[in-house]
Amino acid sequence: MPFPFEIAAVEGRARTGVLQTPRGDIRTPAFMPVGTAATVKALTVDQVKATGADILLGNTYHLMLRPGPERMERLGGLHTFMGWDKPILTDSGGFQVMSLAGISKLTENAVTFSSHIDGSKHELTPERSIEIQADRIGADISMQLDQCVAYPAEKDAAKKAMELSIRWGARSKARFGQRATQALFGIQQGSTFEDLRRQSSEQLQEIGFDGYAIGGLAVGEGHQAMCEVLDYAPEFLPADRPRYLMGVGKPVDLVEAVYRGVDMFDCVLPTRAGRHGQAWTWDGPLNLKNARFAEDQDPLDPTLPCPASSGYSKAYLHHLIRADEILGKVLLSWHNIAFYQALTAAMRAAIAESRFEAFRRDFHARHASNG
Ligand code: GUN
Repeated sequence: MPFPFEIAAVEGRARTGVLQTPRGDIRTPAFMPVGTAATVKALTVDQVKATGADILLGNTYHLMLRPGPERMERLGGLHTFMGWDKPILTDSGGFQVMSLAGISKLTENAVTFSSHIDGSKHELTPERSIEIQADRIGADISMQLDQCVAYPAEKDAAKKAMELSIRWGARSKARFGQRATQALFGIQQGSTFEDLRRQSSEQLQEIGFDGYAIGGLAVGEGHQAMCEVLDYAPEFLPADRPRYLMGVGKPVDLVEAVYRGVDMFDCVLPTRAGRHGQAWTWDGPLNLKNARFAEDQDPLDPTLPCPASSGYSKAYLHHLIRADEILGKVLLSWHNIAFYQALTAAMRAAIAESRFEAFRRDFHARHASNG
């Protein structure tokens, strides 16, 4: 395995550890801020780094359309291009095609789609996705191309997508080969069907990946149904490799997924919600547009080591958001990323000190206090 994964402590199913990469350690549980288009929206890489993020996520779909994979390679790859020297994981593109572009054709060989930018036609095969991620973008961790079904799914459709994802996983692995300084993750599919998730996991392990993702969740099933899948899905995957829950989620989702054995997450929520005036805190989400903050002179969280969290009053943030000032979006995105890093750091410490169960109970009690 190119990236050693050392689990330092376990409590129940929850684990904390370190995934070692040539560009630095990823402390798990880890939250990866989303840098879709070679930027974590509204933030500089120094701001992101100061929150404690060990790794960013980039998107093949967006980067292949703009600036384009070959140009990206000529510019030295994504790390050089955006000035981020820590690890980067890229998603493979299929999921974004589904949600943004609208697929024009899906065959055994490839997914064909029209760009959401200019309508131009593009094709993504498992091999081309790996070439773009690993060879042009230079991702530290590449994801296999997969097919994710919407929720709710008929079992037959979920099975077909899961089986296609396995075949695409094998082709992704064949194109990737074995690399000393880059890793490839497989993606478990199977919607809400336990036997499909089990079968997906078994076949992925036969192919053999450096890590394993749980895909096909947070697609409209809701927190309860997602937790029901997470009651079994992580355990089907090897205990000695990182488990990554894709596209999740709210702070409560992270806590419940860690409780069930997940190690890595990514989600646009902290930055997207920040741009819309929402701040995530230990007391739950706050809508800074709300008039109740108009004269609130307290900062969002004086204990967070982030200027956006401790250095500005809620009244000021309320004013910036109401006035649609750019700085409001910057500060709330920054605070939310810092909060997500504080949340994963707190979970790591709680598991290491065998008090995660108490942490989880206290987290829910306090988080629910604000609705
Ligand atoms: N992001 C969120 N869910 C998924 C998924 O199922 N597959 C991929 N590739 N990316 C995702």
